[in-house]
Amino acid sequence: MDTKSLQSLLSDPSHYAKAFKVFCARSDKLRVFSDWVDGVFSEAVVGKLQATLDGQEELRVLGVGSGSGEQDCVMLEQLKKRFSLVNNRVVEPSDKMLVQYKALAQYKTHELQGVECDFRQQTLEQYQKAGDATKFHFISAVHCMYYLDDYDSSLEYLYNCLIPGGAILVILKSENNGWNRFLDRFPELRRGGCEITSADIRNSLDRRGIPYTQYHQPNGLDVTKCFDETADEDSLLVDFLTHSVNFKETAPEDVQRSMMEYLASSDCSKRENNTILLNIDWDAVVIIKQ
Ligand SMILES: C[S@@+](CC[C@H](N)C(=O)[O-])C[C@H]1O[C@@H](n2cnc3c(N)ncnc32)[C@H](O)[C@@H]1O
Repeated sequence: MDTKSLQSLLSDPSHYAKAFKVFCARSDKLRVFSDWVDGVFSEAVVGKLQATLDGQEELRVLGVGSGSGEQDCVMLEQLKKRFSLVNNRVVEPSDKMLVQYKALAQYKTHELQGVECDFRQQTLEQYQKAGDATKFHFISAVHCMYYLDDYDSSLEYLYNCLIPGGAILVILKSENNGWNRFLDRFPELRRGGCEITSADIRNSLDRRGIPYTQYHQPNGLDVTKCFDETADEDSLLVDFLTHSVNFKETAPEDVQRSMMEYLASSDCSKRENNTILLNIDWDAVVIIKQ
C-alpha cells in the first residue's frame, strides 16, 4: 500500500492542535471526562490521597502532556474541594497548547482560587533531564503516554516523583478500542507510540510489582460525516484518526477506500440508527504509592 506521500500529523503541531480540537468536540470528550471525575476520580483518587497538609502547605500536582488544560482544570476543581492550596506544575511541550491552557486558567480564576500554576514548556524527557527533585502528591498523564520516547521508563520516573501516599493517574486507550484495531490493521499509520494501550501500562506495572486499579470507560466517536465528501471539518477528524496531514487530499484513492471501509467495519465501529460510532473506549489506571 503506497502511503509514502502521507505526512505525519506529529510533524505539524499547529495542524495537530486543530485536528485534536475537532476530535475532542466530536467525542464529547470533556463531558464524558467531567462525569468520570465527579464519580470515579473523586472517590478513587481524591478520596484515597493520603496527604495531610498543614494549613500552609500546598498539594503538589504535576500534569504531564496536559494540552490546553480542559481535563486538568476539571481535576483541579475536584481536588480543590479537599485541598484549598494547590501548586499545579504543567509539563507540556506545545506552546500553542500552553497559551490556551493559560487563557483557560485565567478564565477560571474564580473556580481555581488557591491554585498556583507553574507552566513548563518542555517534553517530559527534557523535564527529567533538567533534574528537578520536587516530589508530588498527584501526577496525571492523560492520553499522552503515546508520545513519550519510552513510556516504560517514563512511568518508572513518574513513580519516583511521587511521595508515599500520593497518586498517579494514567489514562489511555483500552485494548478493545476500535481505533487501535484500525491502527493494528494499517501499521503504516502508526506515529510515535500511538498503538500503546492500557495493557502496556499494566504490564509495565506488573513487571515492577507496583499495585494499581483500572477503571474502564466506554466511549464512542461519531465518524459518520467522515464518509461525507463535502464535510470539510471532518477531514480534520480523519487527519486525527489517521495521524496524517491532509489525508483526504494526499492518500491514494484505493488506500483511502480500504482504510475507511475498515474503520466503519464491526471490528472498529458499531452502527446506531444512521450513525457510525467508532469505539474509543479508554481506561484509567490509578496507582497509589504505598
Ligand atoms: C492527545 S494530547 C492530550 C492532551 C490532554 N491531556 C487531553 O487529554 O486533552 C497529547 C499531549 O501530549 C503532549 N506531548 C507530546 N509529546 C510529549 C512529551 N514528550 N512529553 C510531554 N507531553 C508530550 C502533546 O503536546 C499534547 O498536548
